[in-house]
Amino acid sequence: MANNRTLTMIKPDAIEQGNTGAIIQKITNSGFKIIALKLTKLTTEQAAEFYGIHKGKKFYDELIDFMISGPIIAAILEKKNAVDDFRALIGATVDPAEGTIRNLFASSVTQNAVHGSDSDENANIECAFHFNENEIIDY
Ligand code: GTP
Ligand code: MG
Repeated sequence: MANNRTLTMIKPDAIEQGNTGAIIQKITNSGFKIIALKLTKLTTEQAAEFYGIHKGKKFYDELIDFMISGPIIAAILEKKNAVDDFRALIGATVDPAEGTIRNLFASSVTQNAVHGSDSDENANIECAFHFNENEIIDY
């Protein structure tokens, strides 16, 4: 089922390096509407749940340690074809294309500045992970 929402997280490296404003500017300039937004800090349990699909992989411990190393900003973004368009805007996990958010702001494959949902199904799960319905603003 296609929908028009995706979940992003601005990751601890981007916040630490002062890139939050530039990243949000790129997101809104690219036609995404922010309909929910919060600064939060994941617990180990929350990070493990969010990235549970990667448990057992060689980068898993590094990923969890990184994601709990500082605050993150979670947001729900609305746009037609939101999931695919946002993945295009952030760039690939490895070797993100020129001009993408990860190309501009990632420090490494792990410390890659932003998260984007990878399917409509996961977008729904991830939006509900971070936000209650009453935190989502329809405007
Ligand atoms: P997210 O938007 O954060 O979910 O990234 P992604 O969908 O582009 O990648 P994926 O879900 O496959 O992996 C989740 C996170 O694990 C990535 O964002 C990276 O931080 C990290 N990661 C994935 N693959 C590798 C890898 O091969 N090496 C390392 N060091 N980290 C990886
Ligand atoms: Mg992913």
